[in-house]
Amino acid sequence: MSNQTICQPGLLEEPGRSAHYLEMQWRQGVDNASLLQAIKQAVRHVEGAWIAVCFGADAWDRLNPQWRPAQLVPFSEMIGENGYSMPSNQSDLFFWIHGEDRGDVMDAVLQVHDAMRDCTDCVLDLSGFKNREARDLTGFVDGTANPEGDKRLDATLIPQGEAGCGGSYVFTQEWKHHLQDFAKLSLHEQQQVIGRTKSDNIELEGDDMPPTSHVARTDVKLDGVAQKIYRRSTPYGGADEHGLYFLAFACNLTRISIQLERMLGNTGDGFSDHLMKYSTALTGAYWFMPSQADLETLLNH
Ligand code: HEM
Repeated sequence: MSNQTICQPGLLEEPGRSAHYLEMQWRQGVDNASLLQAIKQAVRHVEGAWIAVCFGADAWDRLNPQWRPAQLVPFSEMIGENGYSMPSNQSDLFFWIHGEDRGDVMDAVLQVHDAMRDCTDCVLDLSGFKNREARDLTGFVDGTANPEGDKRLDATLIPQGEAGCGGSYVFTQEWKHHLQDFAKLSLHEQQQVIGRTKSDNIELEGDDMPPTSHVARTDVKLDGVAQKIYRRSTPYGGADEHGLYFLAFACNLTRISIQLERMLGNTGDGFSDHLMKYSTALTGAYWFMPSQADLETLLNH
């Protein structure tokens, strides 16, 4: 069986112009069997929408004490040398629902919420969207450097032979943009913040790429290996409050945590991500998205 056929449906389905994110806390007094039964109802197939479920470290350990993915931990607040911080809102369950039609996605959201309402409390309930060119609200195209084909699978899925293989480590983070401040920058300055050109989306090269740009902080090599992750973020929000719901999948957690440390300026090279001047992290959580096979075993035992 290939990795692709054992991951949860929807992980690799793009573009997902409509998305919805539900982060939930397991209510005290609810037992394992009731929670698992509720999840089973929540993830039933809905035409036109994908429903994936991910688990926080504590919830996974309670539901499945036999084994755990080696690096799974709760996300703890990160403080940066740059004076910025990334708070944690770690909870127990994360449902990622996406599709192309908002109506189909909403049907799935209501199904999940209805199934879970007696067992969990929602700590985040957010809808996201993608425009035709996948530009985020800063006007820059987001997702371009995602790895493709087999490289995508390698970057995304826990490898064969490791606990949780065919699943993924997941990171979610709600960012609030300060678009009025970003709009005060010249086009040149905006491009220096991101590390790509705005209209034709070309990566800056050589001396044109500041070490403080977002791309320079997140395009990382460790021991010669590019620390690629697979991003499925979308913009969210209304007229007054808006931003990006950052959502990424990786074959190990180090890939994500090193990027966060580099954004915060904690990697000893004196640089941090200037994107953080124009966006504030409001939440942060690590999750394990089990493979479809492991999910079915958990739900049916
Ligand atoms: C306000 C929040 C964020 C915004 C608006 C944002 C936006 C962008 C944009 C416009 C790009 C360039 C195009 C692309 O390759 O996708 C990019 C690249 C990237 N971002 Fe973010 N991003 C945000 C947060 C994050 C966070 C928290 C991480 C890491 C955990 C991250 C990881 C990456 C990576 C890995 C790349 C590709 C770098 C490369 O290899 O070229 N981003 N982001």
